[in-house]
Amino acid sequence: MKRGLRFLALGLLLAWQALAGAATPTPTPAPVPDTIEQRVAACIACHGREGATSNAGYFPRLAGKPAGYLFNQLVSFRDGRRFNTDMAYMVQHMSDAYLHEIADYFAGLDLPYPPVSPASDATPEVLARGRMLALQGDPARKLPACVQCHGAALTGVQPATPGLLGLPRLYLASQLGAWLTNERHAQAPDCMAEVGRRMWTSDVNAVASWLTTQPVPADAKPAASLPAPMPIACGGTTGTTSTTGASK
Ligand code: HEC
Ligand code: HEC
Repeated sequence: MKRGLRFLALGLLLAWQALAGAATPTPTPAPVPDTIEQRVAACIACHGREGATSNAGYFPRLAGKPAGYLFNQLVSFRDGRRFNTDMAYMVQHMSDAYLHEIADYFAGLDLPYPPVSPASDATPEVLARGRMLALQGDPARKLPACVQCHGAALTGVQPATPGLLGLPRLYLASQLGAWLTNERHAQAPDCMAEVGRRMWTSDVNAVASWLTTQPVPADAKPAASLPAPMPIACGGTTGTTSTTGASK
C-alpha cells in the first residue's frame, strides 16, 4: 500500500517535471483547489471514502471520532508513541496546527455506520464474558468496565476518548494486544496499558468479539461528558479525574 503511494507520488513528480520542463508554453492547468478535502484525499485511500469503513477488514474509521482523540493519535504516530510505518510516514512532517485541522475535519463528518451483523463465530460463553467486561468489568481483578470511560453507549466521550462500536474486530483485538506488547502508548498516565495488563488474552478476544456484534446506535455521537470520574486517570483526556496528567 505504501509502495503504491510512493509510486503515485513519483508519478506525480515526473508529470510535474515534464510540465515544468516543456519548452513551449502549455495552457496552465486548472489549479487544484487547496481545500481540506483535497488534502485528506490520501487518507481516504486507506481509511475509506469520507473516512467511514465497514467493520470487516482492519482500517479504523475516522469519521465522527472526538477531535481530541484523533489529534492525540496523529501526534502519537508522529512522535513515536504509536507505531505504524504507513501512518508515521503520512504525518512525519505535519505541524500540530495542521494535525488539529485534519482531526477537526474528520471529527466533524457525520456519516451513517454500515449495518452490523449480529452473527459471530464466538461461542455464547465467550460473548457473555465479553459483554460482562464491557458493561460491568471484573471487580475480582480490579478491571473497570469499558463503559466507565468509553461512555454508557460505548460511542466515546468528548474530548479525547474514542467509541468502541463499529470498529473491525481485528483492529480492536490488535490495539488491545498492542498495549500489552508495549507497541501502543497513550500520553502518561497511560490508563489503557493498565486496563490491558488486567486482562487475560482470552478477555481481549471476548470483549472484541462482543463489541463487534453490537449495533451502532442511531445517534453515534460521543457523549459530552461522563457521569462519574474515570476509575483510572488517563493522560490526554481532560476534566476527568483530579489526578489526570494532561501533559500536553
Ligand atoms: C497506507 C494506508 C494509510 C494511509 C494512507 C493513512 N492511514 Fe491512517 N491508519 C492506517 C492504519 C493501518 C492504521 C491503524 C494503525 C495501527 O494498527 O495502530 C491507521 C490509524 C489511523 C488513526 C488512528 C485511528 C484510531 O481509531 O485510533 C488515525 C487518526 C489516522 N490513521 C489518520 C489518518 C490520516 C489523517 C491520514 C491522511 C493524512 C491517514 N490516516 C492515512 C493506514 C493509513
Ligand atoms: C480508565 C478509562 C478507560 C477504561 C476503563 C477503558 N478504556 Fe479504552 N481507552 C481509554 C482512553 C482514554 C483511550 C484513548 C487512548 C489514546 O489516546 O490512545 C482508550 C482507547 C481504547 C481503544 C483504542 C480505540 C481505537 O480507535 O484505536 C480500545 C480498543 C479500547 N480503549 C478498548 C477498551 C476496552 C475493550 C475496555 C474495557 C475492557 C476499555 N477500553 C476500558 C480509556 C479507558
